[in-house]
Amino acid sequence: MNIKIVYDNQERYGFQCGHGFSVLVNDFLLFDMGKDVVSLRANLSAFKIDLSQIEEVALSHEDWDHVGGLDLLADMPSVKEIYVPMAFSAEIRERIELIRPGIKIVDVYKSAVEMTSGAVMTPQLSGGRKKRKTEISLVLKTKNGVALITGCAHPGLTKIIKQARKIGKLQAVIGGFHGFWNLGALRGLKLIVPTHCTKKKTAILAKYPTQARAGAAGMELDLTEL
Ligand SMILES: [Fe+2]
Ligand SMILES: [Fe+2]
Repeated sequence: MNIKIVYDNQERYGFQCGHGFSVLVNDFLLFDMGKDVVSLRANLSAFKIDLSQIEEVALSHEDWDHVGGLDLLADMPSVKEIYVPMAFSAEIRERIELIRPGIKIVDVYKSAVEMTSGAVMTPQLSGGRKKRKTEISLVLKTKNGVALITGCAHPGLTKIIKQARKIGKLQAVIGGFHGFWNLGALRGLKLIVPTHCTKKKTAILAKYPTQARAGAAGMELDLTEL
């Protein structure tokens, strides 16, 4: 299994950065779409990804830094379904419909939803200030368990990890961890990639020097042996 970070606050040489997040799984599943179309398109192109290869799209939550590149959906003809939290507003649903008329919007609510490819979206959880942010996360089945990919983790990474552990033995966590502070919750993981909005990135890298790596646009991760 291959993960490519295609939008992030940090970038590697040859890639663009911006405040946002997007990850491509196995060159066909896109999770989140960053803050803007220009950088998202440039980074996919730097990885030599043809947009027609992308077959599945999931959006973690409605923050602009995760749905800002949504217009790029117009150039992804192979995407027939888009997975979103049930809490998505009427405005963003209309926008999706305008960009890709007839596309099937799959709502994720109280139960985990298995995507066509076998990847799983966790049930929607709420968090952030006044619990206004509702978010779903991606769980990928690996050889020995599962890997969790989060957008911002506004509901709290510890709560999301609990959901992922219902699906399989957790091996890796990658993404935005936001204000997550309970670093002990990451004990036992083989790979930890804090990135995007993670406030305690430095502390996580210091506590788990062999397992943790800082994420950036242009980074590729091989999860085959996890
Ligand atoms: Fe974010
Ligand atoms: Fe966010």
